[in-house]
Amino acid sequence: MQKRELGNTGEQVSALCLGAMYFGSKNDEATSYQLLDQYVDAGGTFLDTANIYAHWTDSGQGGDSEALLGKWMKERGNRDQLFIASKVGFNYQDVPISLAPKLIEEECNKSLQRMGIETIDLYYCHKDDRNTPIEETMEALNKLFQAGKVRHIGASNYMAWRLEQARWVSETNNWIQFSCVQQRHTYLPIRSGADVGRQVVANEDLQDYCKNTNMTLLAYSALLKGTYTRADRPTPKGYDNPDNGQRLQVLNQVAGEIGATANQVVLCWMIQSSPSVLPLIAASTEAQLSENIGALEFELSPEQMERLNSAVDA
Ligand SMILES: NC(=O)c1ccc[n+]([C@@H]2O[C@H](COP(=O)([O-])OP(=O)(O)OC[C@H]3O[C@@H](n4cnc5c(N)ncnc54)[C@H](OP(=O)(O)O)[C@@H]3O)[C@@H](O)[C@H]2O)c1
Repeated sequence: MQKRELGNTGEQVSALCLGAMYFGSKNDEATSYQLLDQYVDAGGTFLDTANIYAHWTDSGQGGDSEALLGKWMKERGNRDQLFIASKVGFNYQDVPISLAPKLIEEECNKSLQRMGIETIDLYYCHKDDRNTPIEETMEALNKLFQAGKVRHIGASNYMAWRLEQARWVSETNNWIQFSCVQQRHTYLPIRSGADVGRQVVANEDLQDYCKNTNMTLLAYSALLKGTYTRADRPTPKGYDNPDNGQRLQVLNQVAGEIGATANQVVLCWMIQSSPSVLPLIAASTEAQLSENIGALEFELSPEQMERLNSAVDA
């Protein structure tokens, strides 16, 4: 699988990161193992989890995804070949939503323990916390880095101006800096002001910030739960914008021209749109994962990129 540099870290990571959110809860152990093996067999090394995954599901309580990854890595003996990302900051069980230093330290220890590893390769703040001074959060992350518990840090669900505050604080104190930001991002633009709960969309401002600071933008919910190709998945609220009709038409046209699916064109478009964009993929079946990984076999022409980018209803 092709690789890309993670921000300014000099670290090469897989061009498609596998989201492990439902592994060990909605996706049972056998299915999760099969998908992880399939991704690794395709050359993938970049896995994404979080301390809270997936406490909101019927069978999950939080920590399920990390525990499953830990068990799988132990059985496969492959930890050293992988690049593991996890997160802290959202609430689950009796843990509040917060990026306070003590909570960060405790949750990082729990994540390490659940996964049975000594270092997390990339540790994200899962959600900006405006109630904790940003200096305290960045210092706590720097302590984890100095202790060898995390190798790189990232942000998720942040506004661009808050990332700049964090960058300034870290630079001034000579602390480790965020190398990437994980945000909601797909081909269809979301209606301005649409409610996405506690998630934050990668708007133009954030994308420009990433390009100009060499931060990688990790795109989550890239396939909008399958809505691009599945009749059983209605277009999520906010994306059901009449203005998106033209965009969907061009997406499907381009897919027909290159013999790809609309999902594959979305992933290709994202990868080719900027060297700083890296999609997360998720799947619950072998066929879905194989389709998503297969996106790397296509290349869009400059003319197709231009048509995709400029498609808007008059
Ligand atoms: N930082 C954050 O706040 C945040 C938020 C959300 C997600 N994430 C991360 O991003 C990852 C992906 O998020 P997501 O689940 O929202 O991604 P998504 O791409 O929007 O949805 C993935 C789901 O879409 C369906 N799907 C995937 N490939 C398909 C295909 N080729 N054809 C048809 N349907 C397909 C599957 O649904 P079914 O399983 O129902 O079939 C799959 O579980 C997560 O695992 C997590 O690591 C981070």
